[in-house]
Amino acid sequence: MTEPRRVYLRAIRPTNLQELVDLMSVDDVWRNFDFVAAPRMDTGYRLALAMKHWGGCYIHTTDDDRVVGVIILEGDGRKITDTAEVDIAITDPSVRGQGLSLQALWCLFDDWLLGEKVARFHAWVDASNGASQGMIKAMRIPVIGDGTRRMSDGRVLEGVYIEMDKAQWQRVRDELGTKLKIPETPYVMA
Ligand SMILES: CC(C)(COP(=O)(O)OP(=O)(O)OC[C@H]1O[C@@H](n2cnc3c(N)ncnc32)[C@H](O)[C@@H]1OP(=O)(O)O)[C@@H](O)C(=O)NCCC(=O)NCCS
Repeated sequence: MTEPRRVYLRAIRPTNLQELVDLMSVDDVWRNFDFVAAPRMDTGYRLALAMKHWGGCYIHTTDDDRVVGVIILEGDGRKITDTAEVDIAITDPSVRGQGLSLQALWCLFDDWLLGEKVARFHAWVDASNGASQGMIKAMRIPVIGDGTRRMSDGRVLEGVYIEMDKAQWQRVRDELGTKLKIPETPYVMA
């Protein structure tokens, strides 16, 4: 049986921000993140990142070391200390459906929740986004409520609020790690 493809995470930093802007400039990607327009490199980004109002990481595949996705974290107008909003995309459609989002979230939760960089992650997830719904179910992320959200193009969508904290991650981590065949290797780059 062939081994599943692996990913590792590399932190977004002021010095590698242009990569993010390039990645997010693809129409499909910035629209999926509900940006009003393709992002531009500016000092606002650099400052927010330096102030730790937001952060995140690039998702790489290990076999060919390509960037195939991105995770964005936001801290509710303050520093990311207690709660962070999380958004994830596998930006390369050719590697979707291979379990890479689950591996990437596994790395993120290990690093940020077990490492106590943040107390919990939360997100609002579009009810009609089948891939996202499949991802949160497969990742055993608890749904804590539902609610609508007005998108930047004016549409109002139904969705659910989800939240993952350290205790829940510790409950589901081992079972999920076995399912994903996660080896004991360092996943998150500095
Ligand atoms: C959502 C997204 C990140 C999922 O990434 P992915 O790597 O393709 O998903 P995975 O292969 O890890 O699959 C995760 C689970 O979701 C399920 N899933 C994946 N795509 C699905 C789809 N289109 N419909 C239904 N279920 C789907 C998988 O079967 C898997 O569950 P399983 O392990 O029980 O079989 C990806 O589709 C994406 O980038 N979409 C565009 C951006 C976006 O919508 N981001 C979400 C913001 S929260």
